[in-house]
Amino acid sequence: MKAHKIADSLFCVYADIASDELFEGIWPIPRGVSLNSYLVKGEKTALIDLIRDWSGAPRQIEEALAEAGASFESVDYLILNHLEPDHTGWLGEFRRRNPGAEIIATAKGINLVKSFYKEERGLKVVKDGDKLDLGGRELVFFETPNIHWPETMMTYDSASGTLFSCDGFGSFGALGGRVFDDEFSAEEHSFYEREGLRYYANIVSSFSAFVERGIQKLEALDIKCVAPSHGIVWRKNPRAIIERYLKYAGYSRGKTEPSIAVIWGSMYGNTKQGLDAVIRGIEAEGAPYTVNRVPDEDVSYALANAFQSRALVLAMPTYEYAMFPPMAYVLDIFRRKHIFDKTVLRIGSWGWVGGAKKEYEAAIEALRWESVPSMEWTGAPTIQELLVLEERGKELARSIR
Ligand code: FEO
Repeated sequence: MKAHKIADSLFCVYADIASDELFEGIWPIPRGVSLNSYLVKGEKTALIDLIRDWSGAPRQIEEALAEAGASFESVDYLILNHLEPDHTGWLGEFRRRNPGAEIIATAKGINLVKSFYKEERGLKVVKDGDKLDLGGRELVFFETPNIHWPETMMTYDSASGTLFSCDGFGSFGALGGRVFDDEFSAEEHSFYEREGLRYYANIVSSFSAFVERGIQKLEALDIKCVAPSHGIVWRKNPRAIIERYLKYAGYSRGKTEPSIAVIWGSMYGNTKQGLDAVIRGIEAEGAPYTVNRVPDEDVSYALANAFQSRALVLAMPTYEYAMFPPMAYVLDIFRRKHIFDKTVLRIGSWGWVGGAKKEYEAAIEALRWESVPSMEWTGAPTIQELLVLEERGKELARSIR
């Protein structure tokens, strides 16, 4: 891995992760993720954010540091914007190799250094507006709590105007040897935008109010480069990723896209037949929609589509007197991730007796959803039922205009 120069004496050193292991133990990353750290050199040297020992990350970072004329051993300050172990899991080994470096974090962050890593030596608490003089270079710290853990902060390099935002402004997707926004094609940007939305919906969405607050707090800074700890480094158009995050935060307040997220599961095709009729209705009205089948596709993708869409179709059969279990999991995740304020059409087939309805209604109680009248049928849908389903699809499509 090479070091990517952002400005004089400032480098992005990062590791591409290719692993079957789920991110946070939950979210699939089939196209990987990057763990970005940043090296800032004055008379003293700072490393901003670390890594976990995952997919050869320590070796990758070590190679990049060497190219920039540094090493884990030469670091004077290790700045931890966020303590989640994807950025800190290797802290014990770092400390073994560098017993003298000062570890810098917020007060809550330092508590996590102690509790996660049992490290008590060389710890320094910083708070909002505190500065670190590297000798010819100054870093400033801004507490940005709950983006997305309570201890999170961001670090700003005044000389270059670079904001080190850790998880904020991040994305899934390995980088493949390039890091800067101006090094990727439009097609590649589309990929990172999709993966960025999934990352936001999966990891950050519950904390959207804090994202807005954090962005507002940093508004006065002259941000020339946004340097997150996952994904693209935005040096050409830093405003693009800030605006994108503001848009995503707005989704949490109901400022969603006029689109429909269709999420479905079917045992033997009877629910699917009904869903096809609903989709015919949606298409007849010309409404944009996405489709995710569960459990074939991980809930992570349905969550991203539902998060940004104004309306949902949930199609599931009754299974053993209750909801099709993969859809019960979808709704549980939606509740945990606060997928509020949607217009929803639920449909599905049942065999000898229903049951999905009762469980569904209990599951969505806290979600503030508005329902288009549900539609259930026995076994395979009749022609008349298919016509009703098509109308329901049209009605839902009209509701998002
Ligand atoms: Fe990338 Fe919340 O850790």
